[in-house]
Amino acid sequence: MLEEYIFNLSTLHDTKKLGVGIGDIALPGDVICLYGNLGAGKTTLTQAIARGLGVPSHCYVTSPSYTIMHQYSGVIPLYHMDFYRLNDSGDVIDLGFEEYFYLDGLTVIEWSERAEDILPRDRISIVISVNKNQERTARFFTLNDALARRFEKMLAKLLKIEKP
Ligand SMILES: Nc1ncnc2c1ncn2[C@@H]1O[C@H](COP(=O)(O)OP(=O)(O)OP(=O)(O)O)[C@@H](O)[C@H]1O
Ligand SMILES: [Mg+2]
Repeated sequence: MLEEYIFNLSTLHDTKKLGVGIGDIALPGDVICLYGNLGAGKTTLTQAIARGLGVPSHCYVTSPSYTIMHQYSGVIPLYHMDFYRLNDSGDVIDLGFEEYFYLDGLTVIEWSERAEDILPRDRISIVISVNKNQERTARFFTLNDALARRFEKMLAKLLKIEKP
């Protein structure tokens, strides 16, 4: 079943709050695919996910577009990937990065559309779009019921805190 949820990221603060919320509920083996144009906020969201995962604040989370993958130690490992500079899934396989999807960490992938055919079915996709006022919206999709419930609960909690 395809689930869809929408979350407004009007300010940077909203993006940070969402990222921390995601990091808080992440479980080993989760795969999060981030979609959105250049500058949409994929790396910014991942920086907050790292904080939610307990990656210490002195560990700077930077864009891995040249190295393709950065690894950080939090409560569980964070594998932050960026496929922007890759051609297709063959490149991901050659580099051995698809093996990380099935390890005991959280994988967050920017530009995962480059390798759509090797992404695990049980992933969560987050599409960030930017409107003309530079405000962002995040839309969530997953085919996995348990993931959908876990994320829905977290999003509901964040919205309650925001709008008591
Ligand atoms: N609500 C918001 N959420 C996220 N980023 C925002 C927001 N408002 C402004 N920004 C700014 O937009 C920029 C987003 O850059 P970021 O590197 O996160 O984008 P990206 O999607 O990772 O781009 P790329 O495809 O080049 O990797 C940052 O400079 C950030 O400060
Ligand atoms: Mg980026």
